[in-house]
Amino acid sequence: MKRIAVIAGDGIGIDVTREAVKVIEALKKLGGLEVDLKEFDWGAERFLRDGISMPPGGLDMLRNEFDAIFVGALGDPRIPDMRHAADILLGIRFGLDLYANVRPVKLISRKLTPLKDRTEQDIHFTVFRENTEGAYVGMGGNFKKGTADEVAIQEELHTRKGVERIIVYAFEFARKNRLKKVCMSDKSNVMRYGHDLWQRVFKEVSGRYPEIEPSHLYVDALTMQMVKNPGQFEVIVTNNMFGDIVTDLGAALQGGLGLAASGNINPEVTSMFEPVHGSAPKYAGKNIANPLGAILTSAMMLAHLGFEPEAKRIEDAVKDSIDQNVTTTDLKGKYGTREVGDFIAQHVIAAR
Ligand code: NAD
Ligand code: IPM
Ligand code: MN
Repeated sequence: MKRIAVIAGDGIGIDVTREAVKVIEALKKLGGLEVDLKEFDWGAERFLRDGISMPPGGLDMLRNEFDAIFVGALGDPRIPDMRHAADILLGIRFGLDLYANVRPVKLISRKLTPLKDRTEQDIHFTVFRENTEGAYVGMGGNFKKGTADEVAIQEELHTRKGVERIIVYAFEFARKNRLKKVCMSDKSNVMRYGHDLWQRVFKEVSGRYPEIEPSHLYVDALTMQMVKNPGQFEVIVTNNMFGDIVTDLGAALQGGLGLAASGNINPEVTSMFEPVHGSAPKYAGKNIANPLGAILTSAMMLAHLGFEPEAKRIEDAVKDSIDQNVTTTDLKGKYGTREVGDFIAQHVIAAR
């Protein structure tokens, strides 16, 4: 039995997680999917109520008692500094050392992409975002805060070990999937220390994978190429902040944030899975949010736990919903979050 911790979080995170859970529970009726889901109320409501974001011992509990973690989204306008989200979301990423943020960009149907004349073959790559350092370490401070002379310093941190392991992870993924190209993106023309380290490590690591063609793009050029000619990419590896930005662009290429899935992975410990989108407060609780990104994220999680056939069933059912236009309004459909979830839950158990 695999144990999964479910943290729906805030806003539409709650709406889409309900549907992902519905799909997993439906699949369990087929027999064979031995997973046990346990829900946690960590998020803005609880934080505002009792001041607790991640309860004491929460991280150790996740590490020791669970095989995977599913997160909906965190973020609430009533907590503008994102304190609770930093504790929970970044707390899990950093605390469990989940160094590989894996974000597939896969066009399911050509009718979904905003790019003219692009097909499923053109938009099919995976972004590996470094997930434990870079600009996200929160190192810095203020001097003379609130005055006209204010100084703010925000550091970016890159370690040899951190850069190497994400680049190796990306190359290993390429090798395992018989892919031929890995593109590393940075801004080493300006960031002469941190991103220069990426340059040197990438060069060294790529030498260990002679069958794979390494390439490099500065991140500004990368964003242009992702729009102009996305078919050139198979694997992209980049730092934490750039990975955040280019995966929203990647989400747009595949039809929007409502479709994009991600995994925060360290092969040695309990990994965490979450849709790429946030809590979209204006849609919260209104049966509007697209649950497909969360549902595809649950497929990624099940595959990670060794339930490949079940993951494939989810992906097939998502394709059915798109082919049959059983989608939410962001995909030009006329259905609600729950109705799309119901459709997937029925289709995952249908005979094929
Ligand atoms: P967002 O992803 O929540 O929403 C941006 C826009 O994308 C929405 O207004 C909506 O038009 C669209 N969208 C996103 N998800 C959708 C879905 N499932 N279905 C339909 N449309 C969808 O980003 P934001 O507005 O910048 O951030 C809102 C809050 O979420 C903030 O507090 C932010 O910090 C947080 N956030 C959390 C996560 C996370 O938990 N992983 C990720 C991103 C943002
Ligand atoms: C994401 C989000 C997070 C990030 C925020 C909410 C901290 O945008 O998962 O992409 O920047 O990593
Ligand atoms: Mn993001």
